Amino acid sequence: MSGTSLDGVDTAIVNFEQQTPSLVASHYQRYPEELLQAIKRSCQQSSINIEEFGQLDARLGDFYADCIQRTLSKNKLSANDISAIGSHGQTIHHSPNSEWPFSLQIGDPNRIAEKTNITVVADFRRRDIAAGGQGAPLVPAFHQQLFHSNSETLAVINIGGISNISYLNKDPASPLIGFDCGPGNTLMDQWCQQHLSCRYDEGGQLASQGKTNTALLQSLLSDPYFSATHPKSTGPEYFNLAWLQPHLEQHPCSINDTLSTLCELSADCIALSCRQLGDIERILLCGGGVHNQYLRQCLEQRLEVPLATTQLHGIDPDYLEAIAFAWLAKQTIEGKPGNAPSVTGANKALILGGIYPA
Ligand SMILES: Nc1ncnc2c1ncn2[C@@H]1O[C@H](COP(=O)(O)OP(=O)(O)O)[C@@H](O)[C@H]1O
Ligand SMILES: [Mg+2]
Repeated sequence: MSGTSLDGVDTAIVNFEQQTPSLVASHYQRYPEELLQAIKRSCQQSSINIEEFGQLDARLGDFYADCIQRTLSKNKLSANDISAIGSHGQTIHHSPNSEWPFSLQIGDPNRIAEKTNITVVADFRRRDIAAGGQGAPLVPAFHQQLFHSNSETLAVINIGGISNISYLNKDPASPLIGFDCGPGNTLMDQWCQQHLSCRYDEGGQLASQGKTNTALLQSLLSDPYFSATHPKSTGPEYFNLAWLQPHLEQHPCSINDTLSTLCELSADCIALSCRQLGDIERILLCGGGVHNQYLRQCLEQRLEVPLATTQLHGIDPDYLEAIAFAWLAKQTIEGKPGNAPSVTGANKALILGGIYPA
């Protein structure tokens, strides 16, 4: 799994033999700086040509294969121990509402299969889009499997580059709902990288030292994405510094105060999403945003609901999304659907992705 934060690759080896999946081993590999810059050039569509783009696709495939091999050797496992790899790929552009809708993930799965000698499942999003869906978020169906309770209505909130919510109503007759809330870490990260010479705001320390600019926050929250009804999904091709710029011009703000305001924005769009959904009795958090203490404080202030991470259910919040893509691969291999049409808006449940045999 490599998400929109572009922080790197999360590898999870998951055992599905028991009723509850268990994380056998995990590995995090940061993107090397030069590879990161090439990915950013593709995402920002600034100066990449088709040759560079094609090579990046191949190079990322090799990088993912290397992440898998490192995880295997670190844990004294071999290719024979693994049934299949679910590879999300790196999203370069997500455009589910255009005339010809698409979501583009790269990291050539042919190369992963060739290098690891393990069957690969990849390209999870486009079949859902072909059936009229957003292609995202895909994790709610797995959240439902893992966490649904008949005694408590839950929301699972994944705070990655973008934040997304799964609403698991305790009434089993109630449909599964999920959507992207808006920016999770992406705007804060981009701001830190542009103005503060750091990849992200460790623990939310810098944001906690700033002061929220209420006028700026209100202006940001007036974006129609936040009040739009689901299904909906988004990405950094929408929520980026160019999106922020006109709001800042109207409401000038210091560097730290802007970071603080962006943190409040992330908390507000999550809180707004919760209110759009109705009664929630407990919230489970996952994704790298759980390490941002200031963001968690902001969330606690807004939500009168107990907040915990998915560790409460024994699932490492840093690897839940990677585990979910292992599950999605398993669904595909077994010929079972992976999407939840009530979440993505697709016209039916579908077997997702392509299979690249070992
Ligand atoms: N110690 C930390 N303090 C603050 N933020 C953190 C910390 N660790 C991770 N993060 C945030 O989490 C992000 C990575 O989260 P992740 O769940 O991997 O997102 P994605 O799925 O988009 O890759 C980082 O870019 C950073 O913003
Ligand atoms: Mg990540």
